[in-house]
Amino acid sequence: MKIYRKIIWTTLFVGICIVVVSMYFSNLHVNEMKDLYGVLPKSDFETYLRGMLPQNNFSQTELERDYHFDAEGADVMVFLHMQKTGGTSLGRHLVRNLDLHKPCICTKKKKRCDCLTKKNTIWLFSRYSTGWACGLHADWTELKECVEDAMNRKEGFTRKRRYYFISIFRDPVKRFLSEWKHVRRGATWKTAELKCSGRSATLEEVPFCYKDESWRGVSLDDFLNCPNNLARNRQTRMLANLSKINCYNKTGMSEVERDEKMLASAKENLLDLSFFGITEFQRYTQKLFEYTFSLKFINDFVQFNVTRSDQTKITEEQKRKILDVNRLDIKLYQYAKDLFFQRVREMKRRTKDYNPIVDHIVANTFDDSSDYAFSEDQDQEYEDDY
Ligand SMILES: *[C@@H]1O[C@H](CO)[C@@H](O)[C@H](O)[C@H]1NC(C)=O
Ligand SMILES: *[C@@H]1O[C@H](CO)[C@@H](O)[C@H](O)[C@H]1NC(C)=O
Ligand SMILES: *[C@@H]1O[C@H](CO)[C@@H](O)[C@H](O)[C@H]1NC(C)=O
Ligand SMILES: *[C@@H]1O[C@H](CO)[C@@H](O)[C@H](O)[C@H]1NC(C)=O
Repeated sequence: MKIYRKIIWTTLFVGICIVVVSMYFSNLHVNEMKDLYGVLPKSDFETYLRGMLPQNNFSQTELERDYHFDAEGADVMVFLHMQKTGGTSLGRHLVRNLDLHKPCICTKKKKRCDCLTKKNTIWLFSRYSTGWACGLHADWTELKECVEDAMNRKEGFTRKRRYYFISIFRDPVKRFLSEWKHVRRGATWKTAELKCSGRSATLEEVPFCYKDESWRGVSLDDFLNCPNNLARNRQTRMLANLSKINCYNKTGMSEVERDEKMLASAKENLLDLSFFGITEFQRYTQKLFEYTFSLKFINDFVQFNVTRSDQTKITEEQKRKILDVNRLDIKLYQYAKDLFFQRVREMKRRTKDYNPIVDHIVANTFDDSSDYAFSEDQDQEYEDDY
């Protein structure tokens, strides 16, 4: 009798244990599924750290971009090219790789190409076509204030034009590290005009981080610690309407308020761009561009692979600091990436190429082990940025 009781109790105990453990795991499973589908509410910053995407509620008109770009008509494409975002490679595709009735004419020796219509009007405003006609790496604020006049000057007459602003964004941590390496090699971009509301930023407003000609050889820690380093939150600043925050004059507003307004403006302008790509996703950037403008590229964009040898070794402390000083860019990037993938999904749905699971996994791919979307060689190509 006693032995039976023992067996019953043991069975009961083991049974309960199994139930408890399996409940725990099934619960975990549910949470993981929620993670996979991004249902759990989290801040944009938190989603970035966890390799997830936020789920913003975009309207149908924000997701559907379907222009029939008419180069021969009034249409002009304006490329907002921020430093170290992979803009050089997109810029080259625009002048050399688009399948047009009248392609840009590029000559071997010259860096620039002539991108003209049959009527000899200009359809592309970018570094490789018009040059830096609104200043070196002109930002949104500068372009909006300048493009119309610059186009009149370049063409030699005024006419009715319809502008399509485009840009490309990159993972902020990778971009920041890439800019550091570039500056360490001697780049300064000190001729950037930083114009806003009709004048350039003064040296008092934006002091240089270095005393000599350049910041060559700068360590990552020094690069991180300079408060006026324009590399910080570069993508947010270059996309925002800086007139809304009194340009580079920081005295009239708290830092918190300034940051909030700048990010809100950048998000608003992001929605207002005709198109933007994400450097980490070259193929989707290509496809979405083609779909948006009803244009085709001749050769497919190359998705660069990352190898272990490309990685930059940084400490946890440095990583934490990079995240901290690029907080706005991370929020903007998460917002942009979410919008980008919702647009890709919308495109696929309409071209009957839609797989929700695959798309979701691709969108949430966060390869923490790689610091570069481009290899070091690819990065070197941007040497001529300044
Ligand atoms: C998203 O927006 C739509 C329309 O504006 C609204 O009906 C819906 O409740 C919103 N959903 C969420 C989760 O905010
Ligand atoms: C930028 O903001 C200023 C100040 O709010 C506004 O007057 C201006 O129209 C804005 N620029 C553009 C191009 O929307
Ligand atoms: C900066 O803005 C404040 C008011 O917000 C103004 O008093 C000050 O003169 C401005 N500084 C410069 C250099 O324009
Ligand atoms: C990247 O890797 C994939 C799969 O390993 C390969 O098919 C592709 O050709 C590679 N791309 C480049 C540019 O090396």
